[in-house]
Amino acid sequence: MKRTIALLAGDGIGPEVAEVARRLITALSDVAGIRLNVEDHPIGGAAIDAHGEPLPKATLQAALAADAVLLGAVGGPKWDALPPERRPEAGLLALRKALDVYANVRPVRSVPALGNLGPLFAAEPIDLVIIRELTGGLYFGRPRGISGGVGARQAIDTLVYTEAEIERIVRLAFKMAEQRSGRLTSVDKANVLTSSRLWRDVVERVQADHPSVTVRHVLVDAMAMELVQKPWVHDVIVTENMFGDILSDLGGALVGSLGLLPSASLGERGPHLYEPVHGSAPDIAGRDAANPTGMILSTAMMFEHSFAMPDVARAIAGALDDTFADGFRTADLVRPKASAAEDGGDALRVVGTQAFGDAVIERAVARLKARGVYA
Ligand code: IPM
Ligand code: MN
Repeated sequence: MKRTIALLAGDGIGPEVAEVARRLITALSDVAGIRLNVEDHPIGGAAIDAHGEPLPKATLQAALAADAVLLGAVGGPKWDALPPERRPEAGLLALRKALDVYANVRPVRSVPALGNLGPLFAAEPIDLVIIRELTGGLYFGRPRGISGGVGARQAIDTLVYTEAEIERIVRLAFKMAEQRSGRLTSVDKANVLTSSRLWRDVVERVQADHPSVTVRHVLVDAMAMELVQKPWVHDVIVTENMFGDILSDLGGALVGSLGLLPSASLGERGPHLYEPVHGSAPDIAGRDAANPTGMILSTAMMFEHSFAMPDVARAIAGALDDTFADGFRTADLVRPKASAAEDGGDALRVVGTQAFGDAVIERAVARLKARGVYA
């Protein structure tokens, strides 16, 4: 069976990490003997420059018609002067909404081979998953906008959730908690926000259907602290759109780099959307310095969730571990030396985006071949 992947590279480092994903997909489909057709389409700032809008109709149609959508990153200083609804980010939000990918699954896992990468280094391994509601909340509130003259303007954003929107993400989170440790943390701001009161209420109602899952409600401010102080007490974390956005960057810091984190944005039936958690990183764009790990693992999630090929996903994840264990690092994974005495002795190979990708691809192909599943 032939499958089509819509590859939306976007802006900044997006095209660089997308290139790694393209080569990974090609290499693995050759080994696995499957036909995967990768089609490129513009989104974000690149689409604004070429077609005057961040999500051109042709891109949206291609995404809706694809078997899976893989996205690099959008945004950058070039488009900063545009109003929110015409910015590159608006294209991504419209795409998420159109695909109705309400569940953004963001695994946060530490890589033991990386060692201590910064002040948040946790001695115990971290392995948790943030489930971020993706198509509601502040990101999609109505009405919105600015009115009035300079000096007396008013800006409106609204945080709206329907019970149905909360229920579907919460049900997915309970199911995932059942498959993992049986622990679920629901993050809200129920001491202030009415939407959080409803959120909590729905969590408690759905809990009745999942007696084996232990639920903790944690306020988002306390959660920021707990994630730093004792991340291992959490396993599956479910939260609304903006809290999930903020906490997942914190998750990146916990494991050493935002560049490590992948995500799968899942809907009821698909096509699903796969995107690294990081942004377009304009400061390092075009320098072959980006860490493609988030994109590589997002591609693995695509093989697992959209193509039901968990063995390919495992080969990719294992290949990444091998690559790190062999000493390969992108620049974000090299801790600045605290002193001259710390220098030397490291057998690290700091390489660019494409070379790192090549190292992973080579190992992923070897792993798949070694399994003997594919000729
Ligand atoms: C993310 C990003 C996006 C978001 C931006 C680019 C709109 O930060 O996927 O986390 O806020 O959802
Ligand atoms: Mn974000």
